[in-house]
Amino acid sequence: MTNLQQTRPAKANDETSAIVRGILDKLSSAASPKRMLPAKCYTSAEFFEFERGQVFSYAWICVGRIEQVANPGDCISARPAGEPILVTRTPAGEVRAMAAICRHRGQVLSCAGNQRTLRCPLHYWTYDLEGRLIGAPHMGRDDVGEMRKTERLTPIKLEIWHGFIFVNLDPLAEPLAPSLAKVEPFWSGYEDADLVGIPPKLADKPLPWNWKVHVENFTDAYHPEFVHRGTHDFAPSVTADGGVVFTEMNPGDNAIVRTVPMLKPDGGMNRDGWGEDPAFPPIQTISGAQRQRLTFVLIPPSMTLVFAPNAIAFTLLSATGVEATFASSDRQTAGGWLLPRSTIELADFAERAAHVMEGGAKIWAQDVPENTGMQFGKKSRFAPEGIYGPLETTLVQFNAWLIEAYARAAQRL
Ligand code: FES
Ligand SMILES: [Fe+2]
Repeated sequence: MTNLQQTRPAKANDETSAIVRGILDKLSSAASPKRMLPAKCYTSAEFFEFERGQVFSYAWICVGRIEQVANPGDCISARPAGEPILVTRTPAGEVRAMAAICRHRGQVLSCAGNQRTLRCPLHYWTYDLEGRLIGAPHMGRDDVGEMRKTERLTPIKLEIWHGFIFVNLDPLAEPLAPSLAKVEPFWSGYEDADLVGIPPKLADKPLPWNWKVHVENFTDAYHPEFVHRGTHDFAPSVTADGGVVFTEMNPGDNAIVRTVPMLKPDGGMNRDGWGEDPAFPPIQTISGAQRQRLTFVLIPPSMTLVFAPNAIAFTLLSATGVEATFASSDRQTAGGWLLPRSTIELADFAERAAHVMEGGAKIWAQDVPENTGMQFGKKSRFAPEGIYGPLETTLVQFNAWLIEAYARAAQRL
């Protein structure tokens, strides 16, 4: 039997359309991260399929939080890059990821909360929580005995980063943590506050724009002053003595980071957006500098984080089509927080959380028309390959990430 752990998927030459090849040729000869990518990167269904097969399938993708598989037998289903997978906690306490594709005839398996075994719904082949075949009804005792020695749900690479579960469909993927090293300083002190993760309620409707439009909106320091009047003024990108601070972006980095000051310490999200009277109390274990700033972290292609003085808020992203992006967080659905246990145990926590949701919804309502307009503008015959200004350093960095990923992908085609 082939050792699937060491084999990459077959090359995809035949499936690569002329559109994709045209875009890749253009990127290889003329691409500069300082200019916008061709609009077709955001509007072509073929280009999206290329991204899914050749970028997402080789990227580390966050599929949830460690709290979701706290106990042996806990299991979550996810679809990174469109592939059904399961993440389990084994009886030995390990967290494992595996393809949710039955070894018999390929039915998709799903989880039902806590379970002792994984069972295919079609003919009841069963697997243990590591994915090894246990039983196969009516297949013959001897044959099943043999199959048990070799058959298992294909293991998927998994890495846990600060309690976030990341998977990578590429069995030869480099480790995740070194590519996120630049984020480490921003974690300082937070985890001393007994942080607990509250996973977001998962979105059940896609947003009608490309995933790159979504994350560009998140990472853009230029627009808040104009789009988020009244909700973001407390955390400005431009101040008399500085404003937004960017981090360096080196090849191999998988995080794009910006930090903005807050006008006063210990602010956070309240019913009206960012403000000085936040719904959640400040975290006592972080530094004075951390208590007066917001840090926005984009980990493409699957998640964003905001380090605030009182919480870390995160969004899980999943693109299922060129104009279909699922986003799950306090802006779009609910939850997506890391909070001190002392905050979660407050008697009026539910009310405070509702206030955060209300403020987040106000900010999000301002972003929605901008994302809709950006996606629509990509289809215009007059769409520019525009330039970026100094406040858009993170967009240049995201472009660099994309161009690097597309170049690696092009080599595999
Ligand atoms: S396809 Fe799963 S048991 Fe037959
Ligand atoms: Fe925004």
